[in-house]
Amino acid sequence: MIQRAHVLVCMGAGCVSAGSELVKKRLEEKIKEKELDVEVRIIGTGCMGPCERGPIVLVYPEGAFYQKVGLSDVDLIVEEHLLKGRVVKELLAKDEAAVRVSKEEIPFFAKQEKIVLANCGVIDPENIEEYIAANGYEALARVLERMTPDEVISMMEKSNLRGRGGAGFPTGLKWRFVRSAKGEPKYVVCNGDEGDPGAFMDRAILEGDPHAVLEGMLIAAYAVGSKQGYIYVRAEYPLAIKRLQIAMEQARKYGFLGKNILDTGFSFDVELRIGAGAFVCGEETALLASIEGRRGMPRSKPPFPATHGLWGKPTLINNVETYANVRHIILNGPEWFRSFGTDSSSGTKVFALSGKVKNTGLIEVPMGITLREVVFDIGGGIINDGKFKAAQIGGPSGGCLTERHLDLPLTYESVKEAGAIVGSGGLIILDENTCMVELARYFLEFCQLESCGKCIPCRVGTKRMLEILERITQGAGKMEDINELERLGNWVQQASLCGLGQTAPNPVLSTVRYFREEYEAHVIQKKCPAKVCVSLIKYLILVEKCIGCGRCAKVCPVKAISGAIRKPHFINSEICVKCGECKKVCPVNAVIID
Ligand SMILES: Cc1cc2nc3c(=O)[nH]c(=O)nc-3n(C[C@H](O)[C@H](O)[C@H](O)COP(=O)(O)O)c2cc1C
Ligand code: SF4
Ligand code: SF4
Ligand code: FES
Repeated sequence: MIQRAHVLVCMGAGCVSAGSELVKKRLEEKIKEKELDVEVRIIGTGCMGPCERGPIVLVYPEGAFYQKVGLSDVDLIVEEHLLKGRVVKELLAKDEAAVRVSKEEIPFFAKQEKIVLANCGVIDPENIEEYIAANGYEALARVLERMTPDEVISMMEKSNLRGRGGAGFPTGLKWRFVRSAKGEPKYVVCNGDEGDPGAFMDRAILEGDPHAVLEGMLIAAYAVGSKQGYIYVRAEYPLAIKRLQIAMEQARKYGFLGKNILDTGFSFDVELRIGAGAFVCGEETALLASIEGRRGMPRSKPPFPATHGLWGKPTLINNVETYANVRHIILNGPEWFRSFGTDSSSGTKVFALSGKVKNTGLIEVPMGITLREVVFDIGGGIINDGKFKAAQIGGPSGGCLTERHLDLPLTYESVKEAGAIVGSGGLIILDENTCMVELARYFLEFCQLESCGKCIPCRVGTKRMLEILERITQGAGKMEDINELERLGNWVQQASLCGLGQTAPNPVLSTVRYFREEYEAHVIQKKCPAKVCVSLIKYLILVEKCIGCGRCAKVCPVKAISGAIRKPHFINSEICVKCGECKKVCPVNAVIID
């Protein structure tokens, strides 16, 4: 039966944590109560993009894109929209220009190009038939029935797809290495470790379109000659794990996974491996060790996994997003794929856009888009109409791009030239209230804690660098420290065994390169220009502004504020612990940070 309306409820992890499961349940109950359950269909989907505005509910045929839907809003949607056909304006996206009804009218989506995320937020990821209806497994059928493994690899080479896990290695070439490697059996591995803080691209793909990843792996397995695959996902992603398990079970039932797939004689199956969340386990050789049941520690390369991978056998390892691109290339051709992006960086890239922009969330953009378009057109500009300061791109081992890079096209080459990396897709936007020294310290501390300790440059070098940064942010830095950071950083980059150590100094080196004056202010004037480093700031009350309401004194946890009622108050700096509670409650902004 054809339904009159489709109600899509986002069941991505962001919306689930905002309560979308309860919203969906309430919608189902309410629709039943109103006897609409025959004509209205409710579908739980993967992430739709603007996660911080969740729970998101999308109602078709009007395409009304409802945001921040609470339980009480459900009744309104059912009574007004589904019963009376009136779109509920209060729940739609609004900006200065207009109330936006559909997704297409919302600026956040306008410059996006959804290839990998085309099904996310559209189909029910727990229902294989919805995937099949969206041309799912058609690429696999085409490959198995009409193409030789060599033709598949040539097509991948022509597409110019580069690995989305960070290094941007040409995917087709990697597949060719594995195909021509000597040794049996061969393995196909999917890297879904995603350990960068703030990154959720791969999680969203696994949660929203798990079959696309399986289909990419199946095609890769046929191309390289493998019968067994592994998907490595971190334990912190329970929803992704659950949906993958459902997808694998359904794919087996429908004959897409297992023995004699689609009666072609080709067999391939996949096992899930759950990681414990160590960042270093995303590094391919550490990940393979972890799958084998050993401690997840990188080893030196060569030999590369293509020839010496799992249990010493040829192994193809690609990222989640890389695999999710494969079926689109097979179905639409390599020229089509290359029509997105630039000559050297084809296709699209998924980014987790976060930080100080008005619109945060999951975005997919053609490679070569400028940083300005991402920050101002998609991100809607800086919150509170503040000033853009920098973008941290490529996760904890990436680097920063500054105002001068706003018109830089985001490609593998141009971002590298600017001293950062595209990485796997973490993109944090910073405003003038961000201290770049503290930011570098934060990311270096992350890498230092995640260092596996196998090699000295990374284990000791990052520790020494961290100590220097701690000194500087505490006001005890010396001028020589800045040069020493650069010297040590270059040394750690060059001498470390794996990518973690080789890239850990990046945030430090790029902030010293672009924000040296901020380091100097911490060292020479003992000031933090962004007023973030606690040791270098002081809370003060402006006597001429203070109205003596006493609110600050009431909330101060250490009783550092004194003053008679309706008389100016004072902060005793000796006692103040710089928690900032007084600043938050002052009704006249009399509390300032010096
Ligand atoms: C410390 C570290 C962490 C990494 N984490 C990931 C990760 O979470 N996911 C991923 O796909 N690649 C990660 N990589 C890159 C992998 O080593 C490998 O290059 C990638 O999985 C290959 O797939 P691709 O060619 O499709 O990009 C990491 C590398 C390093 C050095
Ligand atoms: S560079 Fe760091 S993480 Fe990599 S092997 Fe050496 S100690 Fe371990
Ligand atoms: S809250 Fe503000 S106005 Fe009130 S006493 Fe404190 S500083 Fe003065
Ligand atoms: S999880 Fe719902 S929009 Fe991302």
